[in-house]
Amino acid sequence: MRELPADFFRAPYAFYQELRSDGPVHQIRLRNGVRAWLVVDYDAAKAVLRHPDIHKDPHSATGARARQVGAGASGVTSANNRLSHHLLNADPPRHSRLRKLVTPAFAPARMDALAPRVAAIADELLDGIADATGPVDLLDAYAFPLPITVICELLGVPVEDRARFRAWSAAVADMSMSTPEGMRAATNAVVNYFDGLVALRRTNGLGDDLISQLLTVTDDGDRLSHDELISTAFLILVAGHETTVNLISNTVLALLTDPPRYRALHDDPTGIPALVEEMLRYNGPVNIATLRYSTAPIALGGTEIPAGELVLVALASANRDERHFADPTALDPDRASSHLAFGHGIHFCLGAGLARLEARIALTRLVARFPRLRLAVEDDDLRWRESILIRGLLDLPVDPAGAPAMR
Ligand code: HEM
Repeated sequence: MRELPADFFRAPYAFYQELRSDGPVHQIRLRNGVRAWLVVDYDAAKAVLRHPDIHKDPHSATGARARQVGAGASGVTSANNRLSHHLLNADPPRHSRLRKLVTPAFAPARMDALAPRVAAIADELLDGIADATGPVDLLDAYAFPLPITVICELLGVPVEDRARFRAWSAAVADMSMSTPEGMRAATNAVVNYFDGLVALRRTNGLGDDLISQLLTVTDDGDRLSHDELISTAFLILVAGHETTVNLISNTVLALLTDPPRYRALHDDPTGIPALVEEMLRYNGPVNIATLRYSTAPIALGGTEIPAGELVLVALASANRDERHFADPTALDPDRASSHLAFGHGIHFCLGAGLARLEARIALTRLVARFPRLRLAVEDDDLRWRESILIRGLLDLPVDPAGAPAMR
């Protein structure tokens, strides 16, 4: 039985490399005492993510170990509440039904049309940073408010409420970050909030926002139930809070620790899309994918996971698997991309297009505006979130008008 090492959240990759050299799947005890099977290599991760006997619905958690957690939390929301009726808690055929109803809201044309607004929000936030005297927390001033503002506008929820969402999202979404009481209180607050937003649309009429679209969507007469609607809206809000922010900040960090690369992108930003794609592999925002449960024995590279167990897929480890990626510890935007940062199979991220768009625009505007941006702390003093789900910083102190980047 393995345990996460003391410096896991700061530096998970050495631990993952050691595990991979010892096999594709390991039994692990998490800090909160929960025991699970951790899948660490690329091929095994892909196999688990599309395996018909690996389920997402916490009610499939019938085994003793899985029950430990299944009754409590599924990685995005707890199992038995009104926010749990979403895609990431569903298996076919319910998942197929929900996915069919929700997918049109993420139509690529709709996402692409957001580009000018994303750029305008970015520029407004960068104006604020330009006015600052002294170091700025780039996470708080840029990487966080940008995707949150976009997701609030897209959903049609008031941006002024974003501080509340941030607290709710952290409390509800990440079982390793909150107490059961905190989770319950936040869940009730979110349910009341979304009930109110939906009621407003029913009385005042629909807009062109995503909640309105989800309210009217139909497929052969089928529609989302009220609880499916608020669960989906909340899932989208959480995804907007917890992921893109870290894609932006993890990428900025990689650039600031390599000034010539930052300078090169300032001179020629055409390399930004390839860099974003490689960053998803190299240090993406999701460390370990959301919880899964085995419903039958699963053979994986010589190991058998019994039925009724909790299964965790370490995407961050699969994305550094030396059997799949040549020189995986190198940040190489020229490599062909086949990372698992957005998952794989039926739960592949619905917001991948939006996340890529936002990260590309955020970085393009930042490097153009601040050619001399630099880190305001030593690399070793950076603070990482203590979450097994999210790989991201707590803050990113920068000096916007730092010394000229060295060539
Ligand atoms: C860089 C940013 C993002 C990353 C790395 C990311 C990653 C992921 C991953 C790994 C999954 C699958 C989880 C699993 O199988 O356990 C997922 C699912 C999902 N993501 Fe994202 N995500 C990002 C941004 C977004 C955004 C911006 C949205 C919405 C606006 C979004 C919406 C969703 C939804 C709805 C699902 C569930 C899909 C399903 O179960 O069918 N994501 N995401």
